[in-house]
Amino acid sequence: MQVGRIMVSPKLAIRLACCNAHSLWSDLSFLLNWLYGVVRQPHIMVLGVGGFAQAVMQILSDDGAEVSCGLTRNYAHDAPAFVGPTYDLADVDSLAEIIDRQSVDLVVPMSIDWAREPWARSLLASRAAVFSPTGDGMRIERERDFARQLCKQFSVPFPMSHVAHNRIDALEFLKAESRAFVIKNPLCSPMSPLHTIVCESPSDTRAWLERIDYAEGVFLQEYLGQREAGHIALVANGEVHSLVTNQEYKRAHAGNLGIVCGGPMGGLTQADPGDRYGLAAALLNPLKPWFADTGYTGPIQATGMFHNGRWYAIEYNIRLGVTATPMILRMLKQPVATLLRLARGNPPESKFRIGYEFGASITLAGYGYPYVQLEGPRVPVKLNSEPSCDVWWNEVTRDVEGCLTATGHRIADTVAFGSDLATAVAEANENIQKIRCLGSYHRPDIGQSLWPPGNE
Ligand SMILES: Nc1ncnc2c1ncn2[C@@H]1O[C@H](COP(=O)(O)OP(=O)(O)OP(=O)(O)O)[C@@H](O)[C@H]1O
Ligand SMILES: [Mg+2]
Repeated sequence: MQVGRIMVSPKLAIRLACCNAHSLWSDLSFLLNWLYGVVRQPHIMVLGVGGFAQAVMQILSDDGAEVSCGLTRNYAHDAPAFVGPTYDLADVDSLAEIIDRQSVDLVVPMSIDWAREPWARSLLASRAAVFSPTGDGMRIERERDFARQLCKQFSVPFPMSHVAHNRIDALEFLKAESRAFVIKNPLCSPMSPLHTIVCESPSDTRAWLERIDYAEGVFLQEYLGQREAGHIALVANGEVHSLVTNQEYKRAHAGNLGIVCGGPMGGLTQADPGDRYGLAAALLNPLKPWFADTGYTGPIQATGMFHNGRWYAIEYNIRLGVTATPMILRMLKQPVATLLRLARGNPPESKFRIGYEFGASITLAGYGYPYVQLEGPRVPVKLNSEPSCDVWWNEVTRDVEGCLTATGHRIADTVAFGSDLATAVAEANENIQKIRCLGSYHRPDIGQSLWPPGNE
């Protein structure tokens, strides 16, 4: 029904028609509230720090959202503050109060850890939707052995794995094995006492088992080589909606040499709603009954390893990922609508921008990285010329004169796009060379290996 030039619902039309002197004021305020709800920008709050929070806030703000950030760690607080208001959640018991006060509609967490915070319950009970699965759906990332069992149940290839509770148990298991095993935390969390150690021979595994922290036990997973790729999708109502196929360069040095870093040194994404490399078909689609049963609503990332002619699932993440998210959101035509629709349980209807079919991200690492025990002073960070692509600052701050200085090990990411991979990589490369910071380095070979998926 139409009132003046405004379309109104039948419910509101009846209400307007029935208004009398007594109810005039309450009906007017009802109408004003309704109009406010229609024209108001959605408010999206990111939970995170550093370049991830800055990127998500900026891209969603460019698409018309009001944005803010709940700071979830005790470092990299400045980058999100370059874009919008930030709230330190270190001493917060209830998030609902901030969410109500700011009329937050959607909360986008950076990592799985939000669910273990003292304010997690208040978030779930608040007016805001959360861009993440909740409850049992979270187990696919959090509990590695649960992911293994799920894969077994739905016939998704998974490397041979074993949970050991202590060193003796782990060494005993290895006695009967001639294969190499990657060492992982059984329960995933950025705060785990143990982070993945990729061992490539049985003696590598045995050597490292002497050195690790067994507080939470250890998850040993057969080493399957280096032909790795990822696939990221949105899941609602038991359906898997593919977004991108992605790659992350996790080793510290060019040529995929050195150790696996805490965060990748670069990444690629390719818009892939049709699953051209078959990763969703192999690693995600078979899990549809479980997605439906758990009411899984949110993003999912599968990391696959191509081995003996097929894809194996080596792990799942219940988020778009720190490196991929700033690429995916820029690639989408309507990132705000896509996130809101999904978090409210609707099919996401993602459409991609022309000229943004490929994304490339290159990280500038600072002094000491990836050996984060080594710390340098707060050296200046300088941009030699105006960037021509996205630059997301990570562990940097402004000094008293307003100049950027490094406060940690990961300085910035340059993120560029193109209709082909070479264009995106060239622009990200050109821009990372504009940033100068003493002792810093980046990988000059992003895109030259591990692509297309299935290659080393
Ligand atoms: N079974 C395996 N065989 C060979 N390489 C592996 C294996 N498992 C892990 N890796 C390597 O180690 C990296 C990190 O492992 P994994 O993804 O399981 O750890 P994670 O800490 O959960 O990582 P993320 O931060 O991406 O969630 C992988 O991306 C891959 O390069
Ligand atoms: Mg993981």
